[in-house]
Amino acid sequence: MTDSLMIERSLQGSTLLLTLNRPEKKNALTPAMYSELTSALAGATADFAIRSVVITGSGSAFTAGNDIFDFMNTPPTGESSPVFGFLQALHNFPKPLIAAVHGNAVGIGTTMLLHCDLVFAALDSKFSMPFVSLGLVPEAGSSLLFPRLVGHAKASEIFLTGRSFGAQEALDMGLINQISDDVVKTAMEVAAMIGEQPPTAVTNTKALLKSGHHQAVAMVMEAESELFRIALESDEAKIAFMKFLEKKGAK
Ligand code: COA
Repeated sequence: MTDSLMIERSLQGSTLLLTLNRPEKKNALTPAMYSELTSALAGATADFAIRSVVITGSGSAFTAGNDIFDFMNTPPTGESSPVFGFLQALHNFPKPLIAAVHGNAVGIGTTMLLHCDLVFAALDSKFSMPFVSLGLVPEAGSSLLFPRLVGHAKASEIFLTGRSFGAQEALDMGLINQISDDVVKTAMEVAAMIGEQPPTAVTNTKALLKSGHHQAVAMVMEAESELFRIALESDEAKIAFMKFLEKKGAK
């Protein structure tokens, strides 16, 4: 456990609760946080007593996505980068992964939900994937998983305009299971129910649910990260990052 990722085990011991804990920066994700998440998921995989993982954010946001300063100063360079490691871990995590979302879920804050098995969201949740607005391209397999979920027309509208959407729209599109006024409690309760199920049947069922597109997602993730790395160096991205800095300076 570090300051920026809290790791707690539930009272029954079957659920691991991961809390992104950089609230002063809206839980914007740093390379260190990606690495911590990756090792927490590896630990949960290896620990037979852990039956599922719940991920949430502290403070007023789930996460504001990748730290924009890291995008500018230490952009991910390849498959050895912490963000790539995390995406691989997310894609291959064998046990149920449950998200408890509130406030902003930006970029990877929304795309990681496409890999979660269940998602609970507070009414104040605000989902966005503003990759195009930032001069970037979708990541985490979202260019395959999102249109698969909502259809090509809706996915195009959301990706190409960069607009955000709320909890009700997320529920209508099937991105989340339920709107809850206590997301962590709801997620932990459902995790405890899953923890009472026969564990091999649970992991086999998760694997079967994902088997139809698991390999295709891996391939899309590779293509996305290639384009993403090139886009990070582009003038379009640099201009968008500068705009973020100017807005911050103007506050
Ligand atoms: N990277 C780095 N810092 C970030 C950040 C990010 N992705 N998101 C927020 N922060 C920082 C802000 O710079 C600010 O820092 P400061 O207090 O030192 O000025 C602090 O977190 C609080 O953010 P603020 O913008 O004041 O909060 P808000 O409630 O007005 O807005 C967001 C919240 C998430 C809507 C807004 O911060 C935002 O748009 N962030 C960028 C999201 C983004 O584009 N992520 C990349 C996705 S690929």
